[in-house]
Amino acid sequence: MTRPKLCVVGAANLDLISYVPRLPRMGETLHGTRFHMGFGGKGANQAVMAAKLGGDVAMVTKLGQDVFGENTKNNFEAWDVDTTHVLFTDQAFSGVAPIAVDEEGHNSIIIVTGANDLLTEAEIEAARPSIAAAQILVCQLEIPLEITLAALRVARQEGVTTIFNPAPARPSLPPELYTLSDIFCPNEPETELLTGLVVNTLPEAEAAAHVLLARGTGQVILTLGERGSLLVTPDQTVHVPAEPVQALDSTGAGDAFVGSLAYFLAAGKPILEAMRRANQIAAISVQASGTQTSFPVAADLPAKLLD
Ligand code: RIB
Repeated sequence: MTRPKLCVVGAANLDLISYVPRLPRMGETLHGTRFHMGFGGKGANQAVMAAKLGGDVAMVTKLGQDVFGENTKNNFEAWDVDTTHVLFTDQAFSGVAPIAVDEEGHNSIIIVTGANDLLTEAEIEAARPSIAAAQILVCQLEIPLEITLAALRVARQEGVTTIFNPAPARPSLPPELYTLSDIFCPNEPETELLTGLVVNTLPEAEAAAHVLLARGTGQVILTLGERGSLLVTPDQTVHVPAEPVQALDSTGAGDAFVGSLAYFLAAGKPILEAMRRANQIAAISVQASGTQTSFPVAADLPAKLLD
């Protein structure tokens, strides 16, 4: 059977996760209860998620020539991710993300993107064959905006479907980013920041998604945490609820959703079915610690989730 083919252009970080009774206040020093170091970065997480489900994934990113960078490349290889365009620089350290996770599984994250910022448009052009060979290209906002735009332009020229995840949140984006996104996939805070609208209820989420659609994106899939996800297109709005679970660590849950959504769409699933399955994978991920370590592998999932 041919594996679904994906390409992810984005950041790789080393996550330094401290588990704390509550998130610290300004100027406060808190005792943590546990520490976990693991592979992260929104692009890397989404790529590894799709690979763990069985996707044939190519990653385009830049690492520092340091121990974090070397280990990150090894991690991609361990998950059979194509590392042809996993590049190195001696001009910056690999990206890192100190993260605090409280007892409810909520987190706060600092990213120091380092080498990720040094990816160039020429390197995206060099990765054109990997983008063109994919059924789906996935991008986020943890690398410079013009590099994300360059990748999305290549995908459009090559007729590749694009999923754009506007994370981490920014208050405004160039109009071209919307028109180059076949699927625009924000969470609630990202949607609020981009539209200036409050997103607490489903009707509010739908109204905000229509603002994004009016900017030229093909369809919007809004992730709603424990409430699941919402598809909004010019013709329909469908809420796909998630099963309630006890969250231990929500770090990377959005990436688990985006990576598995991309995988299921590339595998040919209809959009609502892909969302239903991605909801389930994200719900599994919040029940374990860490970022990529909390993402399930195909072998551990019920066959009906993958058939
Ligand atoms: O979405 C979670 C990710 O955000 C973490 O892995 C961290 O590296 C930051 O990029």
